[in-house]
Order: sequence, then structure tokens, then C-alpha cells
Amino acid sequence: MKIGIIGSGQVAQTLGEKLLELGHEVMVSSRDPDTVKDRGDWGTTPSANQWVAAQKGKGHAGAAAGSFADAARFGETLINATMGVASLAALGAAERGDIEGKILVDLSNPLDFSRGMPPSLAFCNTESLGERIQAEYPGAKVVKALNTVSVLVMVAPQALPEETDLIVAGNDADAKKWVIDELIKGWLGWKRVIDLGDITNARGTEMYLPLWVRLFGVAGTPLVNIKVVAAQS
Ligand SMILES: NC(=O)c1ccc[n+]([C@@H]2O[C@H](COP(=O)([O-])OP(=O)(O)OC[C@H]3O[C@@H](n4cnc5c(N)ncnc54)[C@H](OP(=O)(O)O)[C@@H]3O)[C@@H](O)[C@H]2O)c1
Repeated sequence: MKIGIIGSGQVAQTLGEKLLELGHEVMVSSRDPDTVKDRGDWGTTPSANQWVAAQKGKGHAGAAAGSFADAARFGETLINATMGVASLAALGAAERGDIEGKILVDLSNPLDFSRGMPPSLAFCNTESLGERIQAEYPGAKVVKALNTVSVLVMVAPQALPEETDLIVAGNDADAKKWVIDELIKGWLGWKRVIDLGDITNARGTEMYLPLWVRLFGVAGTPLVNIKVVAAQS
């Protein structure tokens, strides 16, 4: 499948490599595919074009890079992997017709780092990034997913010593079924997925992030996730 990733940060590059390993064609995207990203204390992330060269060196001929508009046009399925507070601007650089009608997996979080660590949320409670994207692109099948774990766990759930949960939300039942059964379970190897319901439930998964960053701090590793256990109803 041709997958267009809006973004070329650590998530886009790591998830993109996993999708290439599975035999898909992947285009990552950037405002400038030649720019190396400065991540401050976390070092740098290669430019989108450096990522393509590295992937081709590994034999992944299906790797490509372009603008946000190029990736939206390229992808049969789209993944939003941009900084959450800039996601609508990034998506807005694409042709609307290249987004509407497609499954758009939104794994971004509207984190606000302006007051340092830990980040807060730029907006929450009565809205979410997933809803904002769905409202902007009513014909897109937005599925909020994968945003509650580090990308290192996202592509390798077996890195944790037991099965843990991913949580999804979205309005389109068929799109959500595809994301759960194919992308999350089939391709990425997850066993446990909780479907919260429609896209308004993205509020819940995004509001989990302030807890996630604190769990990360206590665990001392991004290889951390939750497992939800309920009594039989
Ligand atoms: N890191 C993780 O393990 C993880 C796990 C789950 C979810 N997430 C979420 O996934 C998303 C991506 O995270 P990340 O760590 O890969 O990198 P990031 O630094 O949060 O986002 C990088 C991407 O955002 C784009 N971007 C930043 N500012 C922009 C602006 N003003 N206008 C347009 N685009 C802009 C960048 O475009 P350029 O290429 O043009 O610079 C780049 O492609 C975030 O929302 C994050 O919360 C992260």
C-alpha cells in the first residue's frame, strides 16, 4: 500500500521504516526535506531526504520524501505525524481533495512545550486535535490511534514484558476496523486494542499524555504503557 506520512520527525521516520520493512511504499514529508531537525537536548533527527537515502541503503526501494502536499497526494492511506499544535497548518499545505475520502490516522498530540517540561495541552477538555482535524476535513476518515505510546513501543509492542493496551477513537466504523485489524494488530503486532467510540473520545487519549510523560519520568524509559483491567460486566 502507498502510505503518505504528513511529517518527518522521529515518529514518521521510525514508523515509516517499519512500514517499509512490511513491504509498503512510504513517503515522509516536510516543509524542507533537506533540513536536519534540531531536537535540543534530544539531539537531531535526520532530514527527510537523509532518511530516504538511509532506507534505500537498507534495500527499501519504496522510501520517498516530499512536501506535505506530495505525501497527501501519494498516500492511499495517510498518517498525521506532525507536532500537534502545527498539524492543521501542515495538513492545510496539502490539496483538500488529497485528504478527503481517505483514512487519516492521527497519532499527534497537541502538546504545549512553551512553559518547559512537562508539557501541557494546548487545548483539551471540550475539544481535541482529532476532532479539529475531522471538523476541518469532514470527508476524511479520521482515526485517532497510536498517540498514547512512544514510537519505540508503537512499532514493537513486544518490547514490553506483557501485552498492553492501545486506545482508538473515530467516527467511521470501517476505517476504525481497518486501523485496528490491519494496521495495529496485523502490521504492528498489537494484541489488545480498546475502541472508545467516536472521534470526540480523542479528548480522552490526548488528555492521557500529561500522565504519560510523568509515567515516562518515573519509569525512566519510554518503553512504558498501560494495561486496562475491568471486572466482567
Ligand atoms: N515521539 C514519540 O514517541 C511519539 C509517540 C506518539 C505520538 N507522538 C506524536 O507524534 C507527533 C510527531 O512527533 P515527533 O516526535 O515525530 O516530532 P515533532 O517534532 O513533534 O513533529 C515533527 C513534525 O512536525 C512538523 N512541524 C513542526 N512545526 C511545524 C509548523 N509550524 N508547521 C508545519 N509543520 C510543522 C515538522 O515539519 P518539518 O519537517 O517541516 O520540520 C515535522 O515533520 C507529535 O504530535 C507527537 O506528540 C510522538
